Amino acid sequence: MSDPVTPVRRLRGKDVGIPPRQLDFRLSEELPRWFYGNNATASLFVAVLSASFPPGEQFFVRSVNHFKDRVTDPRLRAQVAGFTGQEIIHSREHDRLNEALRARDIDAEVPERAVAAAIWLIDRLFPARFRLACTGQAEHLTALLAEEILAGEAFRSLIDDRLVEMWLWHALEELEHKAVSYDVYDVVGNRRVERLLAEPALLATVGLATLGSWAWLLASTGTWRRPDDLRTGMRLLFGSDGLLGGIWPRLKEFRQPNFHPAQRDTVGLEQLWRDRLFGPDGTLNDQLRHRSA
Ligand SMILES: [Fe+2]
Ligand SMILES: [Fe+2]
Repeated sequence: MSDPVTPVRRLRGKDVGIPPRQLDFRLSEELPRWFYGNNATASLFVAVLSASFPPGEQFFVRSVNHFKDRVTDPRLRAQVAGFTGQEIIHSREHDRLNEALRARDIDAEVPERAVAAAIWLIDRLFPARFRLACTGQAEHLTALLAEEILAGEAFRSLIDDRLVEMWLWHALEELEHKAVSYDVYDVVGNRRVERLLAEPALLATVGLATLGSWAWLLASTGTWRRPDDLRTGMRLLFGSDGLLGGIWPRLKEFRQPNFHPAQRDTVGLEQLWRDRLFGPDGTLNDQLRHRSA
C-alpha cells in the first residue's frame, strides 16, 4: 500500500495577507457633484485620480505579470496573485465611480483616455524591466497616498460620507500589496539607474496627462473662473496639511540605494483598518459579495 500523500495546496493571495476582496459598492444617487470639501477644484483633482486608476492599475498588473514566470518563491507567487486580484477589483469599482461622476457632468473619460494614451507611450518607449521600475515608483506613490488617507484626518473629513469607505478599502489594500511589484523587480534585477529615471519618465507622461486633463476639467466646468474655489482647492491639495502636501517630499525615497517599501512600517495601520472595515463589527462586511470566500 502506498503512503498517503498530503495534497500540496497552492498558496493564494489571502494566505499571504493580500486577499482580493469582492467589494460591491452601491453609489448613492445623492452623491453631490463637488464631493471633496464642497470644492470644485479639489473634487476635480480627486476625480482625475479616480479616472487614472483603471488604465494605471491595468498597467501595473501587466508590468508585474510579464515577469511572473521568473518568480519561483511560492510566497511571492501568491503575493503576485493577490496583488493582481486586488488591482483588478479596484479598477472595476473605480470604473463605477467614474460612471457616477460622468452622470454629474464631470467628464472622467477625458483623464482616463489621457492617462491611457500616456501609458500607451510608456509601453512603446520603454522595455519591460523599466516599466516594472516605473510600476514600483507608482506603487510607492499610491502607498504614500494610502497612508495619508488612513493615518491623516484631512481626506476622511473632506470626502463625502458616501464615498469614504470605498477610498479606505482601496487605501488598505494598497498598503497590503505595496511591496509586491518591488519584490518582483528585485527578482528580475534591481538597477538603481532605472529607479532614478522612473520618476521623470512617469512625470513626463502620466504626470502631464493628469495635470493636462485636470486643467481641461477646470476649464470645461468653468471652475477656473472662480478664484476663491481655486485658492481653497489648491490649499486642500497642496498645502502643508493638504492631501499631497506631505507626499511629494517622500516620493524621492524610491531613489535611495537601499530602498524597500517595507522600510516604512505600516503593519499597525493596516491592522487597525482591517479590523474597522472587515473585523467582527467591520463596517464593510455587508458590502462583500462573498462573505465566506
Ligand atoms: Fe489599487
Ligand atoms: Fe497598487
